Amino acid sequence: MKKTFLTFILASAVSTTTMAQVPVYLDDSKPMEERVEDALARMTVEEKVAMTHAQSKFCSPGVQRLGIPEVWMTDGPHGIRPEVLWDEWDQAGWTNDSCVAYPALTCLAATWNPEMSRLYGKSIGEEARYRKKTVILGPGVNIYRTPLNGRNFEYMGEDPYLASRMVVPYVEGVQQNGVAVCVKHFALNNHEVNRHTTNVIVDDRALYEIYLPAFKAAVQEGKAWSVMAAYNLYKNQHLCHNQYMLNDILKGEWGFDGVVVSDWGGTHDTPQAITNGLDMEFGTWTDGLSGGASKAYDNYYLAHPYLKLIKEGKVGTKELDDKVRRILRLIFRTEMDRNRPYGSMNSEEHYAAARRIAEEGIVLLKNEGNVLPIDLNKVKKLLVVGENAVKMMTVGGGSSSLKVQREISPLDGIKARVAGKAEVQWARGYVGDASGEYNGVVTGQDLRDNRSPQELIDEAVKMASEADCVIFIGGLNKSAGQDCEDSDRKGLNLSYGQDNVIAALAKANKNLVVVNISGNAIAMPWIKEVPAVVQDWYIGSEAGPALAAILMGDANPSGKLPFTFPVRLEDNSAHALGEFVYERSNEVIDVKYNESIFVGYRWADKQKKVKPLFPFGHGLSYTTFVYGKAVADKKEMSADEVLTITVPVTNTGNREGAEVVQLYISDLKSSLPRPVKELKGFAKVKLAPGETKEVTFTIAKDALSYFDDARHEWVAEPGKFEAIVAASATDIRSKVAFELK
Ligand code: BGC
Repeated sequence: MKKTFLTFILASAVSTTTMAQVPVYLDDSKPMEERVEDALARMTVEEKVAMTHAQSKFCSPGVQRLGIPEVWMTDGPHGIRPEVLWDEWDQAGWTNDSCVAYPALTCLAATWNPEMSRLYGKSIGEEARYRKKTVILGPGVNIYRTPLNGRNFEYMGEDPYLASRMVVPYVEGVQQNGVAVCVKHFALNNHEVNRHTTNVIVDDRALYEIYLPAFKAAVQEGKAWSVMAAYNLYKNQHLCHNQYMLNDILKGEWGFDGVVVSDWGGTHDTPQAITNGLDMEFGTWTDGLSGGASKAYDNYYLAHPYLKLIKEGKVGTKELDDKVRRILRLIFRTEMDRNRPYGSMNSEEHYAAARRIAEEGIVLLKNEGNVLPIDLNKVKKLLVVGENAVKMMTVGGGSSSLKVQREISPLDGIKARVAGKAEVQWARGYVGDASGEYNGVVTGQDLRDNRSPQELIDEAVKMASEADCVIFIGGLNKSAGQDCEDSDRKGLNLSYGQDNVIAALAKANKNLVVVNISGNAIAMPWIKEVPAVVQDWYIGSEAGPALAAILMGDANPSGKLPFTFPVRLEDNSAHALGEFVYERSNEVIDVKYNESIFVGYRWADKQKKVKPLFPFGHGLSYTTFVYGKAVADKKEMSADEVLTITVPVTNTGNREGAEVVQLYISDLKSSLPRPVKELKGFAKVKLAPGETKEVTFTIAKDALSYFDDARHEWVAEPGKFEAIVAASATDIRSKVAFELK
């Protein structure tokens, strides 16, 4: 009895002491803001300033004295980048830092399936967590304004609604791992040449209706914990310290409470970096370790120069405290979340996720005479032509370059799939980019070939005439001037003489399939001669198996284009209306977005004579879908009501398939010019042969609104509207009229 009593007294004494010793900032039962204020109150000015800038290429300090951990960043957005040296871009030489490469974000957008986005985010977040990263530098949601932009492959297409719906689950999927996303590049970074010197001039309507919605959705709906500011300028201020974009819009109008990270080397000025919304400075060039008092990072704009201004009393600490509060929130949400999961790397689940996303994202553009899927009962000799059938695409392209644990090429994927059923041969066809190195990661492939273009064509044509079916696999690649950071394409046409190769193959064999691997639209001068065309993407680790599954019909294509394929470059509004700069400039140059809100299909829809080669939202299947009549639940709605539209969709073919049903809204009469129609809903429905499903969309006032730049607010103008149910931007299946009262 006595013993028990003593034990009780001791236990309660111990627990009281422990409780008293836990500082508020370490007590995760306390509200976040209390913890933030407590930590802040314990920090010196020097410690605070240290947290606002990098201490290595990808890392910034915590506060060792208080047990507040460092922040570790990684690219992003398609896999976890290999480790580089502390102060250099060179490889650190680790042997345990190879990853799964997921399909590029264009492919993800082409799935039109938010569940694929969630799976993507969850999987890549698990890899980041396992590799002990705090932040993934991605996803990217800059709008596809021109098919020449070298970084479109890292983004989610031309439509703000599609990009918004796809980015939110990616953000949630990553962050459920206790790893932050860093949504990039905020904003108006729509081409690469002169990315540090382009001053974008764009009207507020285009800004709010086209270029900002996906960022806003990531921040407000996805609750993104960090955002990366872009390199370029807006209103003559660099976006990494931009009063309008960062303070007024992101932190002001949208109430963002997270961290604004500079793009690497995007900071240019201490006073502006202090006041104009930047929280963390990364990647600024310095003159090496000798230049700083103790190290090069001391020379960062937000390092000693900032501290000096504070010490001299020239600036106060109000902005500093705001920056540090945001950084502390980021750390509490990630590194100091004791309940976050542990993550995993290179698991079979991750490869399966990459493959599923890829199979749902590959787009069947054309299939005349049912060349596809390839019937292995008839096709016994299969010829594959083209460099992209063998070239590793995960190395190159800029900061998204990866070091993969495995990458199965299209040719290997096809060979494995048809083994024992058909003989597969490969011909080079053309020589594109024989290099295979980025930032010290080497593919180990030797793609050199000294034969002349004609010799390569002759060889391919001869082999094609003896084959039952020919698959040409070409397109762009990840070298400069193709799909690559810090460069743009020079034109819409394929390089390396590929058009000649395709035209010659089309003459040699009528069973020709062209597979275009790219993150951008291309011109197809040979389109009439080629019966089947597949839009493939940078798929990553599972490139081969995913493509083979589509070509052989194991998977039924269900991807749809997230951007328009124009026939000619001039059919794209950024080029039709003139402002695209090809020459490099060290001086700041204005680039005016003359087309305003008429980007992508919004422009194509307005053209009476010119039709796109393939419209936004287009994609075929191996089965067929018939849409019934769309019905609205009411003829009139008020601004606080919701309108429901239903449409039956039937699979009329003989195999299972999935259709992306699209809902566009057309404002029949408005005081400001509006696009002919705008995407405001979509649903991917899986249907068995003969099966019918009712697809339901709900429309609220935000789907009817435009941004009134004079009033600086969204306006839903009463009047007549039309809900358009379509299989693509040009394949309209049913319309229903309604009125907003
Ligand atoms: C790119 C960013 C990237 C960063 C770090 C920059 O050059 O624009 O997208 O996250 O480098 O590698």
